[in-house]
Amino acid sequence: MTAFPERRLRRLRATPALRRLVAETDLAPRHLVLPVFVKEGIEVAQPIATMPGVHQHPLADLPAVVEEAAAAGVGGVMLFGVPAVRDAVGSGATDPDGILNRAIAVAAEAAAGRLTVQADLCLDEFTDHGHCGVLAADGSVDNDATLEVYARMAVAQADAGADILGLSGMMDGQVRAVRAALDAVGHSRVAILAYAAKYASAFYGPFRDAVESTLDGDRRTYQLDPANGREGVQEALVDADEGADVVMVKPAGPYLDVLARVADVSPVPVWAYQVSGEYAMIEHAAAAGLIDRDRAVVETLLGIRRAGAETILTYWAVEVAQRLRAGEVRA
Ligand code: PBG
Repeated sequence: MTAFPERRLRRLRATPALRRLVAETDLAPRHLVLPVFVKEGIEVAQPIATMPGVHQHPLADLPAVVEEAAAAGVGGVMLFGVPAVRDAVGSGATDPDGILNRAIAVAAEAAAGRLTVQADLCLDEFTDHGHCGVLAADGSVDNDATLEVYARMAVAQADAGADILGLSGMMDGQVRAVRAALDAVGHSRVAILAYAAKYASAFYGPFRDAVESTLDGDRRTYQLDPANGREGVQEALVDADEGADVVMVKPAGPYLDVLARVADVSPVPVWAYQVSGEYAMIEHAAAAGLIDRDRAVVETLLGIRRAGAETILTYWAVEVAQRLRAGEVRA
């Protein structure tokens, strides 16, 4: 390698055309998936105070939300349900008339194959205690009893027309249990997105408002310790072994190292979830006049792609896809 003055690294940065030519990472609408909150029993969309610009939608809004996302070219929508009633075992999750299952059917019809319909497969929105699984007599989250409920929830979501099921509960064996349940009833085409390396994170705070979480306590007995990188890689490999079609790292920004390590070794596609707290930080900092919002948004997404995510779940999915299409953001 030559050194300065023959080597001048600024040479390729000199003009927009040169920079565009040598950019290693790009962003396209298909790389983005929009999370959508659907709430039972409301008539008009409700703003979520902790997430400026994000709403809880009534079921009736969903066709328009899906239409806008499809028109923007995003890769999919990830649906979350906010039920009117919750109970100890999360019955609303397995009921075909439950809000999430109804939302899947409505979204699938509206999407008409133009984008993928994905659904959160977890009990926390449906249980009155707010945990991601059912509880044992001693109050702990019962892994194996939860798998049985996830299996039924998966079949209900597949029956409703979901393309991809997002397993976010962090129970051991959940991918295997869901794959077996789906295949047993002929849903072998439905794909599994495993939230493989999901950390016990403070950055889910705004989301818990969005789904009106009832959780008292934390999820540290099932979500990963933020201190552990190797364990995140192991989770991804185990989930791929169990049959996950895609593995995900979550949150994204604070775990780019884990994302890069998973991307290095994963035999399946690797996605990342830019979570509610990552969204809220930028929106609130921008509202306070502290940061150039539009540039910051794209910079975080590029960083997540650069670290190794092929697809990103982000609350900015439609907005950024529209800006990409309008040529305001370099693709
Ligand atoms: C669990 C789930 C959570 C998120 C997505 N799926 C919450 C949690 O684990 O507490 C968080 C997403 C976000 O913060 O944007 N169903």
